[in-house]
This record gives sequence, structure tokens and C-alpha cells, in this order.
Amino acid sequence: MQQPTINRLDELFAAEPDRLSRLSFEVAGLYFDWSKTHLDRAVVERSAGRAEEMGFAVAREALFAGEIVNASEGRPATHVAERGSGAPDDVDLATARRQRMRALVDAIEAGAFGDVTGILHIGIGGSVLGPALLVDALGRSSSIEVRFLSNIDGAAFDEAVEALDPATTLIVVASKTFTTLETLTNLEAARDWLRDAGVEDPDGRLIAVTAKPGAALSKGIDETRILQFGEGVGGRYSLWSSVGVTAALALGWDAFEALLEGAAEMDRHFRFAEPRENVPLIAAFADRLYVEQFGCQTRALFAYDERLRLLPFYLQQLEMESNGKSVTSDGKPVQHPTAPVTWGGTGTDAQHAVFQLLHQGTMLVPVEFVAVAEGDDAQDPEHHRLLLLNAFAQGAALMQGRSSNDPQRSYPGNRPSSTVLLQRLDARALGALIAFYEHRTFANAVLVGINPFDQFGVELGKEIAKKLAGEGSHGDLDASTRALIERAGV
Ligand code: F6P
Repeated sequence: MQQPTINRLDELFAAEPDRLSRLSFEVAGLYFDWSKTHLDRAVVERSAGRAEEMGFAVAREALFAGEIVNASEGRPATHVAERGSGAPDDVDLATARRQRMRALVDAIEAGAFGDVTGILHIGIGGSVLGPALLVDALGRSSSIEVRFLSNIDGAAFDEAVEALDPATTLIVVASKTFTTLETLTNLEAARDWLRDAGVEDPDGRLIAVTAKPGAALSKGIDETRILQFGEGVGGRYSLWSSVGVTAALALGWDAFEALLEGAAEMDRHFRFAEPRENVPLIAAFADRLYVEQFGCQTRALFAYDERLRLLPFYLQQLEMESNGKSVTSDGKPVQHPTAPVTWGGTGTDAQHAVFQLLHQGTMLVPVEFVAVAEGDDAQDPEHHRLLLLNAFAQGAALMQGRSSNDPQRSYPGNRPSSTVLLQRLDARALGALIAFYEHRTFANAVLVGINPFDQFGVELGKEIAKKLAGEGSHGDLDASTRALIERAGV
């Protein structure tokens, strides 16, 4: 990919009068504006050519057809089937599992577990980030108090259970493998917490969500309370599966279904729209441009809505665990840099903390704004108006800049941003938004030739920690690490 011919964003607007209409899109009720990026006509054309060369259409069809797209682990990626978009057999299996989950949700709502006022959801990484995002975004008025527990730190446990009543709390343990140290340690702590509080049948309050039902059974969880999901559903793509049970309980079944429908609408767009109209692909073209040609090592996302404050954390795992790779799907060194560091925060807080660097620093950071046109009904509309205007002002300021005789007060401008504007924040829109990011991540992976569905990079550290915890033998470790262990006395 070459540098765009015109380098100033404001000049691009002048040179391409149809720029806004070509680079803004409405999909599944979401408005996407990529016009304040350096994607000019030529870059889009070249990128579309590259997508063709990299076999994008074939790879995309393989994803939806349930073929083996995760070659290193020899399996398909079936998260799209969870929302009805995959191969018929995968969709049938996902539907059957969802029906089981629904039966459990209905039973809980009908009182089969007595009065339920709280849920402690235990899981880490993909087994918690999605459910936490959903509940934080949409479940603020839920009658169920939901707490998420991921870190192995006991302080996190104490904080998570603080607001929960053990007598009326359900424990949802989500773990694809059911071997994760943090999750299993927290499961035992939760059992003790229930037992110590005098709950009669602590095991009867446990629900497991896993791709390994046998492992959950062996941890003493009754078969009737184990919800299975498929091996093809990666952790960071799993919120659509039974991993969503906590969200379904907190938000209600209809909201959970609407989430899946919103995602399915984005799936249809991604699967059938032609490259120049395909929003996740266009976004990936811009991502490639900034990483490869402008040398950007990070990209930042700011949620201009408090309800979406967890979105940057969710996307960090989605993008960095998927595409933080150095070898192609067939094991060769990559020809291009892969995923940038994803970071971000919420507007307007971030404006008063990190935006200085974005406006005047020496590093170019492509910025993404995610905002919601209609605010939460419970909030003062004037707050919301000011919030939105701040987001839009930042995008304009980044692009326009301002020259001054005083270099300290000069803004270079020409700093790119993209904006996603939801009309309102409901389950359907959130489903479409998350699916957009999934597909953009996939499109980036195809353009670079990597497998976004494995994550071997996380294994080594886990193995060493497990070994140290189990055997306590430090002999084969380096002097620095040995000294740290000895100094900490662990
Ligand atoms: O450590 C990375 C990881 O394997 C993630 O990919 C996954 O989402 C998380 O750990 C949790 O794994 P599990 O769901 O198997 O407990």
C-alpha cells in the first residue's frame, strides 16, 4: 500500500467534494464516518485490490460456512453461528444450546432457585469482558445486582462480593477450558463464601458455562446447571453463546435476542456488501494505512457515553489477542506490522488527561469516537448535548489544527479520527457495534495473512506460573526472577 497522494485531510475534503458521502455509511442503524481519515479514492482502490489478492472474499465465506479458519488449532470459528449467521448445522447446534440456556433463565425467573437478587459472574478474559460490557452498558436499571470477578487477587474477590447477599446470589462460572487458574481459584473462594455464610447447598447455587462440560462436572457442578458452548467459539468471541447467560438474566431474554439480531444484521452487511461499501473492511483499510504507512503503533478509542466505558477494554482483548501476531497462518514471518496497541477511555475525562498528546505530541494516533445520539432517558439532555458536541469538537480540532506564531500554541492538525454514532444505545445497536469490531479484526487479519483465532502467546507465562505454583522449583529460572520470588517470599 502506498502513501495517499494528498496528505492533508482538509485538502482531501476540498479535492473530493463527495468525500463525506463516500466514506460515511449507515448499517444496522449505526452511522459510521471515516471521512476524517486519509483514505482517499486511490488508497481505497489499492486496498480493495489487496483484499482481492489476499483472498478476502474466500476467507470471509469460509468463516460463514464454518470451514476451518483457525488452522493452527484445526477448527472453525463459529461465533457467527451463535447469532444465526453460520453454516446450518452450526446454527442448529447453537440454537439448541441457546434453548437450554433459555430454559435455565426461565426456571431462575420462575423461582427455581428461590429469590435471586444477585449474580457473581466469575471468569477472565473473553469469559468476562463481553458480559461485563453488556451489563454495564444496558443493565444499569436491572433488578439483579451483577458483580464480575476475574482477577486472582483476593482484594478483587472482597470487592466483588461486598454488595451481594450470599443467601440470594447465584454464581455463574464461565470458562471455556475450565482449567483457568484464576477462575478455578475464585470458584473455590465463592464456594467458601457461600458456605461460611451458612448457605445450605452452596453447590446448588453454581452455574457453569464451558466448552468442557466434563471438566465442570469434575469440579462438582451438577449437569443440569452446566451450559455448554462450542469449541469453535473463541473466548473473545463468546458473549453471543451461553457465556451471555449473566447478561440474559440481568437484561432479560428479549434484550439478549435483540443483541443477536443486531449482530446478525452486521453479519449480513459484512458478508454481502461489496468492498467499497463494506464498513468493517473499509475500517480495516484505514487501520492498515495508519499502521503500515504512517507507522502508528497505537490507536485510541474514546467512548463518549458512560455506558460504554468498558468498550476500550473489550476491544483491547478482541484486537490485541486476535491480531497481536508475528507469523502468518502458515508460519512465515509477516510482511507488515500487525495489530497496533488499542487503548482509550471515556470522553470527556480523556480530554483532560491524554488529549494533549493527541493534539500536539510527536506520535500520530488515529482516534475513534463512539457516541450515542439519544442519551439515556434518565439523564439531563443538556449534559448529553454537551457531551456529544465535545466529541465532535475534538474530531474537528484534531483535523483542522491551528497555526500560531507561538509554536507552543500551534496545533499541527491533520490528525485522523473516525466516528461511530449510534442512534440510541439498545441491545440491537450494541450487538451490531460489537459484530462490526469483530469483522474489522477479521478483515485486518486477512489483509495481513494471520490467524486471528488462536492465542498461543498467552500460554508460556501461564505455564511458568502454574509450574511455580505447583512445584515451587525455581532452579531453571533466571537470577532476576529467582530474586523477585525470594524477596516476595512466595
Ligand atoms: O489467557 C487467555 C485466555 O485463554 C483467553 O483467550 C480467554 O478468553 C481467557 O484466557 C479465559 O479462558 P477460559 O475461558 O478458558 O477460562
